[in-house]
Amino acid sequence: MIRRLAPSVLNADLAQLADQVRLVEAAADWIHLDIMDGHFVPNLTFGPPVVAALRPYTARYLDCHLMVADPEALLPALGEAGAGGVTMHVEALADPVRALSAAADHGLDVGLALKPATPLETVLPYLDTLDLVLPMTVEPGFGGQAFDDRVLPKIAGARRAIRATGRTVAIQVDGGINAGTLPRCLEAGADVFVVGTAIFGADDPAAAAKAFRELLERGDG
Ligand code: DX5
Ligand code: ZN
Repeated sequence: MIRRLAPSVLNADLAQLADQVRLVEAAADWIHLDIMDGHFVPNLTFGPPVVAALRPYTARYLDCHLMVADPEALLPALGEAGAGGVTMHVEALADPVRALSAAADHGLDVGLALKPATPLETVLPYLDTLDLVLPMTVEPGFGGQAFDDRVLPKIAGARRAIRATGRTVAIQVDGGINAGTLPRCLEAGADVFVVGTAIFGADDPAAAAKAFRELLERGDG
C-alpha cells in the first residue's frame, strides 16, 4: 500500500489559498479540498471555480471531498477544473452506480465517503469500481473536531473487504487526524491521511506537514 498525505486547506487562510498550498506542497501527495454546500452539511465553502483557480498553482493531485446534496451536478465542472478525484458521500446518492460511472466519464478517480454512523455495508457493493473509500472519523462539516475512534473497526472491515476483492482501493481517513491518531488508523488499514488543523493550525504549517510525512515514512515496511 502506498501511503499518502493529503493536507486539507479547510482551516488554512483561504484568502491566500495558493500560497498556503505551496507551504505544504513538498510534503504532500494530494491536496484535499472540502466542497460544502450548506445543505448536506451546515458549512459552506467553495466549488469548482476555486478548484479551477488553484489548478495552475500546484502540480499536486487535487482530491475533492464533496459534502453536497447533489454531488453528480458538480462532476462536469470538476472534471473541467482539473480535479484528480472526487469522493462523494454515499448518503447523498440515489444511484451510486450511475454517479460513479458519471465521475469516471469525466476523467475523475472515484471514492465513496461514509459518515461515522453509516454502516460499511452501504459501500461494499461498489468496491469493484471504486478507487477509494473514506470512512469519516468525524461528523463532516468542520475542521478541528475530535477523532471518533469508534470508526477504527470500520476501517479494518473495509481493509478486509478490499483485500478479498484483490483490487487496489485506497482507504482514506479524514477528521481529527494528528500524530496520535494517525498510527492507529494506519494500523487499522488506512493509507491516505487527510490532515487539516494539525497542519494549518500549527505555527509552522510547512514543518508540521514535513513531520507528518516523516511519520508516514517511519512506519514504512
Ligand atoms: C471535515 C473535512 C475535513 C477537515 C478535517 O468535514 O472533511 O477534511 O478539513 O480537518 P481536521 O484535520 O482539523 O479534522
Ligand atoms: Zn474532507
